Amino acid sequence: MTEISPGLENVYIKYTELTYIDGDNGIMRYRGYDINELAEKSSFEEVSYLMLFGELPDEKELSNFKNKINNNLKLPDYMKNILKNLPGEADSLGILQTVLSARSSIELNYKYSEKNDKELIPEILGNVLSIVSNIYRIKSGKAIIDPIPGKNYAETFLNACFDKTDDQKIDAIDAALILYMDHEIPASTTAALVTASTLSDMYSSLVSAVTALRGPLHGGAAEGAYKQFLEIKTPENVEPWFKKNIIEDKKRLIGLGHRVYKTYDPRLKSFKKYADKLSVTPEQKNILEIAKKLEELGVKTFGPKGIYTNTDFYSGIVFNAIGFPLDMFTTLFGLSRISGILAHITEYVEKQEKLIRPRAIYNGYDKREYKK
Ligand code: SDX
Repeated sequence: MTEISPGLENVYIKYTELTYIDGDNGIMRYRGYDINELAEKSSFEEVSYLMLFGELPDEKELSNFKNKINNNLKLPDYMKNILKNLPGEADSLGILQTVLSARSSIELNYKYSEKNDKELIPEILGNVLSIVSNIYRIKSGKAIIDPIPGKNYAETFLNACFDKTDDQKIDAIDAALILYMDHEIPASTTAALVTASTLSDMYSSLVSAVTALRGPLHGGAAEGAYKQFLEIKTPENVEPWFKKNIIEDKKRLIGLGHRVYKTYDPRLKSFKKYADKLSVTPEQKNILEIAKKLEELGVKTFGPKGIYTNTDFYSGIVFNAIGFPLDMFTTLFGLSRISGILAHITEYVEKQEKLIRPRAIYNGYDKREYKK
């Protein structure tokens, strides 16, 4: 009897050399390198190159890659006009999705090849840095600008967003962009693969991914977790809040649980390090204390069911400490994930290229006559 697998749980649709995840032991590696070691020692563009082209770049390769990205920081006027004319209440990730969709409309018949990818992908990374930083600027009432290249992608990005920043925040966002870069094939990457498997272009595949990422069960969790901390207000209120909302009302504790991890999400190690380092104001320290108490209670309650803290529980604290408001959290996740999604798309299309077309088991009416 053919069975369905709800949510495609434990269904494998591709081989990958990109990200290794051991959900039982909380291990995660990008092309063999430990995720936390890369977050500490590498940079967003170096890890992007590793994921996209297979090996860590040498000095010349890295410099060429960075130059190509920096040559694409200036957005074409039509993208700037979209950014200017979307309604103020448009959500950040929805704006990114809209601008990428406009770009996809002029990218038909893309021919996937390593040569073409090496040209188009730096354009996408440069454009997306500029789109996301200008989304933040518009929502903060600032004018659209063309980002000025800094020492690396992380610095270019923060300098484009804020009038001033510092090295600790640049290191933190660089680490965050590495940590969120890929995670095998979550819902958003799977959505991109479905689109790419039809040989639709890269931008259209990214639009599919971004629309999936917007859901609260996926990319929206960093914002959802942080909203819990704000709602709780004080460390003393953690227990009563948990009892009412999670135990009695049976709400999901956002930032806990994962389809793959049945122990702590390995990315937490770096995010918690930066959350501790960057939480310096009384408000930030209060939120951090609430988060730690809530995590302890959540793991005590759900740990026996294999439900532990995931990366989204602390990433919002880091994003907020760097200076970003809640509605930018998922968009920052999206900025980072673009590289990983593009790596999966090129790996899939250039190696396997099977149209993704699952089946459904029909359990509706048998044949019946049309009578009126
Ligand atoms: C990300 O896939 C990825 O890799 C995603 C991601 C990435 O990098 O791309 O890692 C990023 O999306 C991380 C996950 C962020 N989402 C959240 O934090 C939202 C809260 N988490 C859950 O909704 C849940 O854990 C999921 C959706 C993430 C995964 O759930 P599954 O595997 O689909 O399992 P399920 O929803 O069927 O839950 C199984 C049981 C249920 O209880 P029972 O009905 O069996 O009694 O566990 C319970 C659930 O109610 N449960 C939770 C819970 N998570 C699962 N109960 C309370 N709080 C939770 N957080």
